[in-house]
Amino acid sequence: MINIAILGFGTIGSGVAEVIERNSSEIKNVLGDYLHVKYILDIRDIPGAVNDINIIVNDPDIKIICETMGGKEPAYTYTHLALERGISVCSSNKELVDAYGVELSIIAREHNCSYLFEASVGGGIPIIRPLRESCGHEKITKIAGILNGTCNYILTNMRAGKTFDEALKEAQDNGFAERNPAADIEGHDTARKIAILASLVSGQKFSYEQVNCTGITEVTLQDIIDAENENSTIKLLGVYDSEGPYLTVAPYIIPQTCPLYSVNSVFNGIMIHGTIVDDLMFYGRGAGKLPTASAVVSDVIECAKTLGQNINNNFADLKPAEVKPTEPPESKFRYLE
Ligand code: HSE
Repeated sequence: MINIAILGFGTIGSGVAEVIERNSSEIKNVLGDYLHVKYILDIRDIPGAVNDINIIVNDPDIKIICETMGGKEPAYTYTHLALERGISVCSSNKELVDAYGVELSIIAREHNCSYLFEASVGGGIPIIRPLRESCGHEKITKIAGILNGTCNYILTNMRAGKTFDEALKEAQDNGFAERNPAADIEGHDTARKIAILASLVSGQKFSYEQVNCTGITEVTLQDIIDAENENSTIKLLGVYDSEGPYLTVAPYIIPQTCPLYSVNSVFNGIMIHGTIVDDLMFYGRGAGKLPTASAVVSDVIECAKTLGQNINNNFADLKPAEVKPTEPPESKFRYLE
């Protein structure tokens, strides 16, 4: 039995506990052992939960922690503390990975444990590990992705007759949106995710402050109808172009011929171009309790298979990137080249 702790028992954290229980025999098959949630830490008064991180990091039984708190603090302090004790951390926290991913990865390497963050981009889509492992030898020149489930849910449902606010409220009720949904609709969440992906494939650390970022708050139903009349639709994309490099988040006009056209509702779609493999497309649920928890559990299993070792997450050696300013669009929306 491998004992783990979950920090933050909200949508994703409770999903991790559910996945571990529901798929215990599948986990045993792939890992050769069972996972057991020994501690839950939450600032709220949840029966059985602890609220002192020291109880967890001082327990020699705990070798892996899931950080599903979100936000910078106390997630940063707790992650730092755990890694320094040689406890691996599996995170869904894109804000933390963007801001402190390099520093935390160095600490993990120095203490023979791992800092993994599959769930930080694309919800349930396996994207970080395939880029790191299967595409590690590729030269990735372009990434274009629908990376925010909430925005895609809103844009899809506006077309189906909902108002922006109604669709946002539904996304919140479904557990897709951030605690402060401004991060979704203003594009900052997508900016963090495209910065993480760009960093992973480029050998340079991009940060979300470097992204030329426009959200979806100015997109109207009429804009969507106009696009449809031209056999197109509007999607919020995060785009990385190694020729520059450029990092852009904005609403794009997507023609029917593009695979991203059919990515609707909470689903995310990520197109990758490698110079050898050519075009790849990743698709799946970009937000929500169980899909995102599934991605966290995939990291826990990788850490559990490699206890006492550091998994190279491609972040520890990154140097700050320089980004060229993205040209302003010629019309209200950008077009995918
Ligand atoms: N708020 C995020 C989204 C959650 O809607 O995509 C998943 O990162």
